[in-house]
Amino acid sequence: MNVVNDHLSHPVIGDLAIGPVAPERTYLLRQQVLRPHQRVEEMSLIGSDDPEAVVGAAVVAGSGEVVSTAAVSPEEAPAELATVLPPGRQWRLRSMATRPDLRGTGIGGAVLAFVISHVAAHGGGVLWCSARVPAAAFYERAGFVRFGEEWVAEHIGPHVMMWRTVGRS
Ligand SMILES: CC(C)(COP(=O)(O)OP(=O)(O)OC[C@H]1O[C@@H](n2cnc3c(N)ncnc32)[C@H](O)[C@@H]1OP(=O)(O)O)[C@@H](O)C(=O)NCCC(=O)NCCS
Repeated sequence: MNVVNDHLSHPVIGDLAIGPVAPERTYLLRQQVLRPHQRVEEMSLIGSDDPEAVVGAAVVAGSGEVVSTAAVSPEEAPAELATVLPPGRQWRLRSMATRPDLRGTGIGGAVLAFVISHVAAHGGGVLWCSARVPAAAFYERAGFVRFGEEWVAEHIGPHVMMWRTVGRS
């Protein structure tokens, strides 16, 4: 598979554009992957109206289907986590999801790299998230470290705080 700038040539699904999309375009995938206990009409994306926020996606050329997504926006970390973070602007990563049959083929990693590059282009800082525990190893591969105890979110399952620094680009 080739990743060239903001495009990814995928062996199964073909050409994918990696970049920003309107938040609404990610709601169906987010509902199916992350919030099946809710309806698509109930999806929203906290922070996405911030002028420095971005919603990233992998979009199939032709059909326009969103097959992976992630979002970042400026947001202070919870107080307990903030005590261990280095100085720098704090950003939150949320709503990371890839279509189930396409997982493990590099698409989520490409979308995550895109939103991290957005943070870097906006001055960098500290990027944190409430990670679902089954995805924690995915984030660790991308340079995040775990913080604190795990907790269980209703309807969703075990979570753990994670964070990494992002340099300015
Ligand atoms: C987590 C998720 C978004 C990863 O997306 P993806 O498209 O499968 O990720 P990629 O294929 O780009 O994986 C990138 C790397 O992480 C690894 N990886 C992916 N998911 C992993 C996991 N759950 N555990 C360990 N490693 C994982 C891949 O093997 C790959 O490794 P490599 O760079 O050495 O080849 C996807 O599994 C998903 O949607 N999970 C369900 C929803 C979820 O839990 N989202 C996170 C909410 S916090």
